[in-house]
Amino acid sequence: MTSTIQPAPNWSLKEEIRAYWSKRAATFDDAFGHRILPGPEHDAWAAVLRERLGPQPIDVLELASGTGEVTKVLLSLGHRVTGIDFSESMIERSRAKHRGHPRARFVLGDAENTMEPEAAYDAVVCRHLVWTLTDPKAALQDWARLLKPGGRLVIFDGDFVNLAWQGRLAKQAMAILERWTTVSSHRDSSLTSEHNAILSRLPFRKGLTFETLSGLVEEVGFTEITRGSYHPIARAQRRIAGRHDWLRTWLHTRFILTARKP
Ligand SMILES: C[S@@+](CC[C@H](N)C(=O)[O-])C[C@H]1O[C@@H](n2cnc3c(N)ncnc32)[C@H](O)[C@@H]1O
Repeated sequence: MTSTIQPAPNWSLKEEIRAYWSKRAATFDDAFGHRILPGPEHDAWAAVLRERLGPQPIDVLELASGTGEVTKVLLSLGHRVTGIDFSESMIERSRAKHRGHPRARFVLGDAENTMEPEAAYDAVVCRHLVWTLTDPKAALQDWARLLKPGGRLVIFDGDFVNLAWQGRLAKQAMAILERWTTVSSHRDSSLTSEHNAILSRLPFRKGLTFETLSGLVEEVGFTEITRGSYHPIARAQRRIAGRHDWLRTWLHTRFILTARKP
């Protein structure tokens, strides 16, 4: 019989988040949408990043670099990349993936308090980090500090709590497929309750929207805030996805927020 071990009250939320992602590191790349596959998917990511970062190689700080998948695209565009992640298992994987690359560096650290020098980077990029932050405002203040004047902030994120009508339809269709075939949800079900317990205590527990995030980004002093569409990436993913993953591309409302430090 298995029993659920409840964390002690002094087990900090951030430690739980770190432990959660560390458990997911080994299989993270197996899930569709995490690994950026060569071909149309990689090309779509590259086009979206080139459009936002420009054609010249620059110094990019990639926050929550995870297993180094977005890093791979940034490196392919010629940028010098510092990846920060607070999970040792994630950092190990990104280091192994990019071992010996002259423009890649990985640091074990907290994305909410990077300790990176002031005005050191031309751009800050992160994918699927902001929804899981414990203190988003402090994080954004830190990111503004370490950017050079004119530096760019590029956030790929989404609302992983509320489903729009397309998401609700996709979820129903996925459940039917799961009932009749061997495909299943990409997250290990034993981690689902852990995920939910963490989510219920996060600032964005009710879902992260572009509107909420852009308000916060503006409050911290960024300008030229724009919303970009995930559609080019989702379209590319649909070209290579099986039925279940094809449906998954419709599940969540995702967005790309771009802003500039004055
Ligand atoms: C959904 S994964 C995304 C990984 C990667 N950005 C990607 O898209 O492939 C979330 C990542 O955020 C990292 N993370 C969460 N909170 C963090 C924090 N405060 N500091 C550093 N890393 C953090 C986790 O360790 C994990 O690697």
